[in-house]
Amino acid sequence: MLDRTRVTALLARERATFEDRHPRSAAAYARADHLFGRVPMTWMNKSAAGFPIHLDRARGARVSDIDGHEYIDFCLGDTAAMAGHSPAPVVEAVTRRLADLGGASTMLPTEEAAAVGAELARRFGLPLWSFTLTATDANRWAIRLLRAVTGRPRILVNSYCYHGSVDESLIVVGPDGQARSRDGNVGAPYDVTQTSRVAEFNDLEGLARELAHGDVAVVLMEPALTNIGIVLPESGYLAGVRELTREHGTYLINDETHTFSAGPGGATAAWGLDPDVVTIGKAIGGGIPVGAYGLSAAVSAALSGRTDLDLVDMGGVGGTLAGNPLSLTATRATLEQVLTDAAFAGMIDVATAFATGTQKIIHEYGLPWSVNQLGARVEYRFVSPAPRTGGASAAHADAELEDYLHAYLANRGILLTPFHNMALMCPQTTTDDVARHHEAFADALGELIG
Ligand SMILES: Cc1ncc(COP(=O)(O)O)c(C=O)c1O
Repeated sequence: MLDRTRVTALLARERATFEDRHPRSAAAYARADHLFGRVPMTWMNKSAAGFPIHLDRARGARVSDIDGHEYIDFCLGDTAAMAGHSPAPVVEAVTRRLADLGGASTMLPTEEAAAVGAELARRFGLPLWSFTLTATDANRWAIRLLRAVTGRPRILVNSYCYHGSVDESLIVVGPDGQARSRDGNVGAPYDVTQTSRVAEFNDLEGLARELAHGDVAVVLMEPALTNIGIVLPESGYLAGVRELTREHGTYLINDETHTFSAGPGGATAAWGLDPDVVTIGKAIGGGIPVGAYGLSAAVSAALSGRTDLDLVDMGGVGGTLAGNPLSLTATRATLEQVLTDAAFAGMIDVATAFATGTQKIIHEYGLPWSVNQLGARVEYRFVSPAPRTGGASAAHADAELEDYLHAYLANRGILLTPFHNMALMCPQTTTDDVARHHEAFADALGELIG
């Protein structure tokens, strides 16, 4: 129903404005001849306006670029900064470890690590924790361990999931209903259809069919999909997943890296879930790299029972910097002083204001779009009602429209996550920030509709 010529013209106009407003970012990008893709990590080229703004500074819910513009940051490092940028308790703890005590990379445990394990156990209900540097690695290592325990070769994921750059997860349900490698998955060590199975989210029949093969070690899933818009679980779905996985002797990992936005113990605690393993990363470090996986007592006992599994050396999990004192001091400060129960309550209230207002504006303009909320995270999607599977959500992506909205908002001082239309609240995000988003968003839609 949108006039596509108008969308194209508006995007071109916003890109031109963006270029005019960001001469220093443009020049820095043009000068970066020795960065592959001109950025330190290639996905930073996911920029609605053709080149990325270059960071100057960031505090709380604000980011400033080297052209002197300040933004309300609803991207928050795609969740890595859900605690806000440089929260004071984390800065203090990290400074103490790095500057006063020293020892960021010692390969020695600290007393703080035990406190972090205990706090994660309290929040997520799993008693035993181990650390990585990223959520990707938490997933990789947990998969590896569960393969070891079960002796089964495959994993299962949901179509259009994202769990980091985990080879086995880059699989989707194709239009013919058959599993196939996800577009862009080039250079994989093995054909992903040989290492993995896939089912649509909210599809218990599909899951049962795939698990019946008896070769799936573990289902790796987000309790709500967050990387293809937000796709929420239907009533009974997560209980059904748990039942089926138990029935087929398959372990269940809840990847809480993003669904942590649901509350202090993620969706696992908020919805009373009972996974065998929880993986997480990003926000728990308050901006410092860390990942973690929590094991049930049964999984831990099964691992300990494998005397042939060399977890001290060659067991296939590990990293020199994993569990380093800097990551763990940051995580302790984040959990104990920043992303507290009270902070989550405030963030979720602000997110509710974001969701309600956004929905109202969409309704006023008569657009067939939907808004979903997952605690402190909100996302709108160009389809209504909200999709119930990853495949359906992927089918309604609209890159040009998305770029227009992102560029329009960026030109007016508002950042969304560059991937789809996600907005995240940190403890410092205010309802005034939300109102500023709504004003710009309404103007953007006004121009779109004409
Ligand atoms: C659900 C989920 N798991 C894992 C990851 C990987 O996190 P990282 O890139 O920090 O390793 C992501 C990243 O977006 C994610 O969304």
